Amino acid sequence: MKHLLKLLDLSEEEIIKILDLADQLKYNQKNAISHEYLKGKTLAMIFEKNSTRTRVSFETGIYQLGGQGIFLSGSDSQLGRGEPIRDTARVLSRYCHGIMIRTFEQEKVEELAAYSSIPVINGLTDFAHPCQVLADLMTIRERMSRLAGLKVCYIGDGNNMANSIIVGAMKCGMDVSIACPPKHLPDKRVLDFAKKFRNPKLLITEDKFEAAKDADVLFTDVWASMGMEEESEKRKKTFEGYQINSEVMAVAKPHAIVQHCLPAHRGEEITEEVFEAHAGEIFDEAENRLHVQKAVMVLLMGNNQ
Ligand code: CP
Ligand code: NVA
Repeated sequence: MKHLLKLLDLSEEEIIKILDLADQLKYNQKNAISHEYLKGKTLAMIFEKNSTRTRVSFETGIYQLGGQGIFLSGSDSQLGRGEPIRDTARVLSRYCHGIMIRTFEQEKVEELAAYSSIPVINGLTDFAHPCQVLADLMTIRERMSRLAGLKVCYIGDGNNMANSIIVGAMKCGMDVSIACPPKHLPDKRVLDFAKKFRNPKLLITEDKFEAAKDADVLFTDVWASMGMEEESEKRKKTFEGYQINSEVMAVAKPHAIVQHCLPAHRGEEITEEVFEAHAGEIFDEAENRLHVQKAVMVLLMGNNQ
């Protein structure tokens, strides 16, 4: 593993290796055991979209590993004035030890990686959110002690989260069901990936109750992702039948957990009642961003690589 650009690039073994190291780093941090594996190293963090969790967890994470994060906003850096991504890649490669980028096009992240001599980590694109789904897998495994054989359900827009959940969960042996409007399916590359599997299975349906039936884990995400703000009102109508509420929870397994990458819009994709009833695992999920990204940074930027 040279970069983390999308979960499609990782094997199941690589995913499990990240999760195992994340568990170890979480234990170390909780027990004040030093783990400064990236002493003196720097991570450039490019943000062309807003963030709370990704920014804070990466910056805190590299600091806890003995290194330092450098925040670069799209508008303040020369990227905002049109400096090509391939030149930015070659410049940052001369100063830093890793680059995290949050942007729009997946192709931009792939180009950045192609021109970088240092590891690149995708902190969210329109296509994928691999760090988030690694944290989600870590949380599910913590709560349920396994991944393979569980059923994961995602209700809502076939967006970056849906794409990454399908790939991450199926690689780890989990059945996946997606309830979404027919015009808002997950990406074709992801659907093609899923076709290769006989077991586990992927179900795509318009019926959220069919998708949620006997699920162990229910996911949702905002109906209008970053960059879609203008479509927000229209999307509220398109997605109004795709809310996680107590009726949906009633058809899932009795012990089912809920995951939301956050930020959440209560009363839209999830009711206040369901959100608060499952806040424990939702905020564990947010916390696990820190531990899983520390694991990714150690594996990619550490001296052992
Ligand atoms: N879930 C997530 O990526 O949150 P931020 O947008 O706050 O980084
Ligand atoms: N799908 C959302 C995820 C935010 C973390 C977005 O891209 O805005």
